[in-house]
Amino acid sequence: MNAEGRTRLDQMPEWHALSKHREEFGETHLRRLFADDPDRAERYTVQVGDLHLDYSKHLITDETLRLLRQLAEAAGVTRLRDAMFDGQKINITEDRAVLHTALRTPESATVRVDGENVVPKVHAVLLKMGTFASKVREGHWTGHTGKRIKTVVNIGIGGSDLGPAMAYEALRPYALRDMDFRFVSNVDGADLYEAVHDLDPAETLFIVASKTFTTIETITNAKAARAWLLEGLGGDAEAVAKHFVAVSTNAEKVAEFGIDTDNMFEFWDWVGGRYSYDSAIGLSLMVAIGYEHFGEMLAGFHLVDEHFRTAPPESNVPMLLGLLGVWYGGFHDAQSHAVLPYSHYLSRFTAYLQQLDMESNGKSTDRGGRPVSWQTGPVVWGTPGTNGQHAYYQLLHQGTKTIPADLIGFARPLDELGPLRDQHDLLMANLFAQGQALAFGKTEDEVRAEGVPEAQVPHRTFPGNRPTTTILAKELNPSVLGQLVALYEHKVFVQGAVWDIDSFDQWGVELGKVLAKRLEPALTEGAEVEGLDASTEALVTKYRDLRGR
Ligand code: F6P
Repeated sequence: MNAEGRTRLDQMPEWHALSKHREEFGETHLRRLFADDPDRAERYTVQVGDLHLDYSKHLITDETLRLLRQLAEAAGVTRLRDAMFDGQKINITEDRAVLHTALRTPESATVRVDGENVVPKVHAVLLKMGTFASKVREGHWTGHTGKRIKTVVNIGIGGSDLGPAMAYEALRPYALRDMDFRFVSNVDGADLYEAVHDLDPAETLFIVASKTFTTIETITNAKAARAWLLEGLGGDAEAVAKHFVAVSTNAEKVAEFGIDTDNMFEFWDWVGGRYSYDSAIGLSLMVAIGYEHFGEMLAGFHLVDEHFRTAPPESNVPMLLGLLGVWYGGFHDAQSHAVLPYSHYLSRFTAYLQQLDMESNGKSTDRGGRPVSWQTGPVVWGTPGTNGQHAYYQLLHQGTKTIPADLIGFARPLDELGPLRDQHDLLMANLFAQGQALAFGKTEDEVRAEGVPEAQVPHRTFPGNRPTTTILAKELNPSVLGQLVALYEHKVFVQGAVWDIDSFDQWGVELGKVLAKRLEPALTEGAEVEGLDASTEALVTKYRDLRGR
């Protein structure tokens, strides 16, 4: 039993039933599953909002799905889901509610945290963001010298960077084309340098985005940006107010940094960093795409939230996707999950999902504090599909690993692509072909029939049986992006609930931060660090030598 009275996952009869089912399933091939069941593609296709999902190319039968749903029930997934939507403090190690869903509820809704309805303040901040975004977009918010703002630089890291950066790329066609949006995250000075070296400080606005406003990378970059600005504008400290705004939960630290808290956009501790880009953390995105489009995106999120909250397990899409991951991790020894968008605009989507998934479910301690003895979150990876095809797809097709993959594509290219729209069918033909090749492969007989020399036959055979989900929508617009992100958020939730881990803390990032802080003086001043291991000590010495210190 865990702290909440739950039986340990691998001791549940439902888990054992799945183990047995896996043995019986053996190496059953997708070719066989499709041949035996002409309705398979139709039955294993669902629609949620604008997203059309085909999960027929998975190593599953009706029985697999039934057993997985039984496991979810035994694991109390829907109970935990309801507790999340209800504002209960399901982030147990930080004693916090988990309410990113409240960021996209309509104004008329009520969501309580510690007895307070938080919806009015969510909408008040959205309005404040909208007013500010309009002023910048329309040129009414000018810089210190009265010049119009031409470039917005978001300074943040992790959830305070990846979300807005990903969504800005995804929704570029909806963004102002006569403004530039840049994202600085890395404490490597080269990141900030490359972002600002060709800019006029008088036309540049910095948005410093940090939930805690203590993150060393962000504060270091923000201070350097302020120095760059002041140097460029003749050193008048009053310039800061027109060129720096903040997004944070920590007004005190924002004021301490020197940003007027009137120019601060608030969010709350019940929004996790990696779940925050639809909060004020999305301010840069809102300036880019405008209040209306941002609202459409929130409506897309909300649509999938409502589906997740209300749909029964049999037709609940995040539940389904989460359980498929449990099946592969727990019973197929899959270590990773590839997300392969066939859209240039989703070029940062997988990087965004890496934090969402890996920071949430990269845990090995259950909610009761004991080590888990089952697989938890997978390594999430991938890049836009066609580029991947000419790089790592070889391993997907013929390697020794089971790597479930998501293929994501859209039916309609943008109007503004003009004649380039014609390339879209080729792009999508690649998506469909990959799903086909991964699932069905190419048999030895098929290879021989092509007259391939016998010695080459084993090399040119494709085993197939590699699982994919295909996600298709008419077009990539703000609502569809919101729907997609919410789908993955809730999928991650379902998996964390089954695995009995706290998906909403991130203690695993702390140790490295502490050690870096302790090591820095050794690198800079040659200070002695007590208790340093021989390898790190030698590396520091070598570094100082190479650095010329
Ligand atoms: O180091 C991990 C982390 O805490 C993430 O969870 C978070 O998104 C990121 O750092 C940035 O934190 P902040 O928004 O407080 O600067």
